[in-house]
Amino acid sequence: MNQEFPTFPKECKSMLCKHLTKEVFTSLKDKKTSSGFTLQDAINSGVENIDSGIGVYAGDEESYDTFAALFDPIIEEYHSFSVDDKHKSNLNPNDLKAPNPDPEGKYIVSTRIRVGRNIDNLPLGPAITKEQRNEVEKQVSSALKSMSGTLSGVYYPINGMSEEVSAKLIEDHFLFKAGDRYLEAAGLNRDWPEGRGIFHNDEKTFLVWINEEDQLRIISMQMGGDIKEVFTRLTSAISEIEKSVKFSYNSHIGYITSCPTNLGTAMRASVHIKLPKLAEDMDTFKAITDKHHLQIRGIHGEHSESEGGIYDISNKRRLGVTEVECVQDMYDGVVALIAKEKSL
Ligand code: ADP
Ligand code: ARG
Repeated sequence: MNQEFPTFPKECKSMLCKHLTKEVFTSLKDKKTSSGFTLQDAINSGVENIDSGIGVYAGDEESYDTFAALFDPIIEEYHSFSVDDKHKSNLNPNDLKAPNPDPEGKYIVSTRIRVGRNIDNLPLGPAITKEQRNEVEKQVSSALKSMSGTLSGVYYPINGMSEEVSAKLIEDHFLFKAGDRYLEAAGLNRDWPEGRGIFHNDEKTFLVWINEEDQLRIISMQMGGDIKEVFTRLTSAISEIEKSVKFSYNSHIGYITSCPTNLGTAMRASVHIKLPKLAEDMDTFKAITDKHHLQIRGIHGEHSESEGGIYDISNKRRLGVTEVECVQDMYDGVVALIAKEKSL
């Protein structure tokens, strides 16, 4: 591995390039966590992909301490969360005030809420061994066999899935794409496709991705804007899975995830929403999303473009706010976006 201080081109805007000063680099370059994860491993994605927004990944919970001189300022900037803050969790759907903001279905196409989770006492995806990853697949797919009622479903490994089936699942927004270059450079695609897969119920309203960026991505989604129903389904699914799988969590940074943007709640609550008029005035659009701490993505997920005036709008903050607050951020912003679109 290259032990030289990386140089970034002038146009690089990543948080890595901003916060990896020579002093930070020198103080961390010879450190290693107990799973053998180094600074070079943590920064490789941002070094190889200079268009990264963030550019770093953790190999284990320990990485957040060992490389704190780099991770802390990134966490602080992304989440407005300081080293003395404590994370808090609230997964109680009764605390969410979110009546359907679009009961006629004119704007909101679909709603999706996901959380990332990783198993306690195991390395995260960037540092996990093939055997440990396969063990995660076994443990999680077996736990999912006991889901009952509308949450019951089937686990489909990617290994052996036909091109046709996976392409359709991706196109319909249910499955992750293969070959993401940020994940590739982070070591998250090693041994692909072994150990990866998707569980879903018949209706595809409850899904679990296994061994993508995080060991689990637990997802609840459905057509339309009944955000509370989507949140309620997600929280029951999480409690069911927690009966047999212990997740990695600490009181400072919440649920441990491989990317620092997902720490805390690890929750992204989004709608696919039609805003063709507002899209003609991106400054006004962005002023509303900034005010409500929201992020705008395209409709084929992160790093994709919008199509037909439809956008993916989701909460940006995940740490130092509760799950209910994450969804509330998204809800309040969506109400404001719809009101603006109607007025145009
Ligand atoms: P993640 O949310 O898991 O971090 P992505 O942004 O890549 O990752 O999204 C994963 C998939 O979920 C993509 O196919 C995306 O289009 C789909 N998706 C996200 N939000 C919604 C939504 N509200 N309705 C339907 N599909 C969605
Ligand atoms: N590593 C990528 C970047 O820095 C993605 C960061 C956030 N998204 C994520 N899926 N973790 O741009």
